[in-house]
Amino acid sequence: MQTTTTIPIHRTNESRLPGLDINNLPFGTAPTDHLFIARYTGGEWTEARIEPFQELTLSPFTLCLHYGQTVFEGMKAFRMNDDKVSIFRLNKHHGRFNRSLQRMAMPEVPYELFKEGMRQLVALDRQWLPSGKDSALYIRPFVIATEKRLKVKISDEYLFLIVCTPVGSYYSQPLRVKVETEFIRAADGGVGYAKCGGNYGSALLPTQRAIEAGFDQVLWTDAQNREFIEESGTMNVLFLIDDILITPARSSTILDGVTRDSILQLARRRGLKVQERKISIRELEAALQGDIRVEAFGAGTAAVVAPIESITIGKETYACYVEEDAVMYSFKKELQGIRTGEVEDTWGWNEVV
Ligand code: COI
Repeated sequence: MQTTTTIPIHRTNESRLPGLDINNLPFGTAPTDHLFIARYTGGEWTEARIEPFQELTLSPFTLCLHYGQTVFEGMKAFRMNDDKVSIFRLNKHHGRFNRSLQRMAMPEVPYELFKEGMRQLVALDRQWLPSGKDSALYIRPFVIATEKRLKVKISDEYLFLIVCTPVGSYYSQPLRVKVETEFIRAADGGVGYAKCGGNYGSALLPTQRAIEAGFDQVLWTDAQNREFIEESGTMNVLFLIDDILITPARSSTILDGVTRDSILQLARRRGLKVQERKISIRELEAALQGDIRVEAFGAGTAAVVAPIESITIGKETYACYVEEDAVMYSFKKELQGIRTGEVEDTWGWNEVV
């Protein structure tokens, strides 16, 4: 396998950046000038290189188009106050990437290849980092199965790519969510913890139905009894009930969210009581009916902290606390501070490029 210094770079001679307002783009619409690509064949990753952004040509027989061997990560790079650029928690994302790949019977990506490919790509396209509040360079590493075969089988060939795009806020408003009791996102023993394409594809119809009914997102419940809360939309979900931060524990159905983990670490350092455990709809409804403050929010790389302003359970809609002094905003602020270098990065989360 190639190492750091041997990733060849073929630069574009025509940047698409001039003329683009990178601080005002709909999420995920404008690829940066370059991409990283490597090929897996004969049992090893090879031909790693950085190229001008380009289309892929795939045979209609390509396995990933049929049987779902696709895995991705969602990551971000930030411009720091000293104008350096840092990638957030590269190491942790890499670990999750490989766990997803393993579950989908796909080859793991070595740490050096992941790290150096990404570092060099982000360094090359650093002019694409937007400067607006809540903005970042979104990084999308992914692997697809590329063997040309219609048989249902583990592919013998793959592509590993990294693409980037400038992004702002994922959600512009606090969310109205409904507890989903018809459809499920994941079942025990399935792929809920993996970042594979199918998890997102199967959520589209339930989400569309929720939007048609006047909501922004769904609050997923467990596959067995529709009794316990799992995630919200494409995010982990956290609640602050009576000053206790509660979130569903990691399991085979819950994504090991990097933002979730970061918030839990910040909360514990502050001395806040944190509980990773099952939380039932009944418990949540009792809290929402009571005389206590309930904050609810989604956490994910794209959305960071997405405040939830109301939760609908059956026919009842309950308001959550979303005022300016809500604790959830302070997590977002502290995370932003660490990413820009304003707050000391005591855990070494910033991978400075
Ligand atoms: C992320 O938060 O990065 C996600 O994966 C959510 C979505 C953009 C797929």
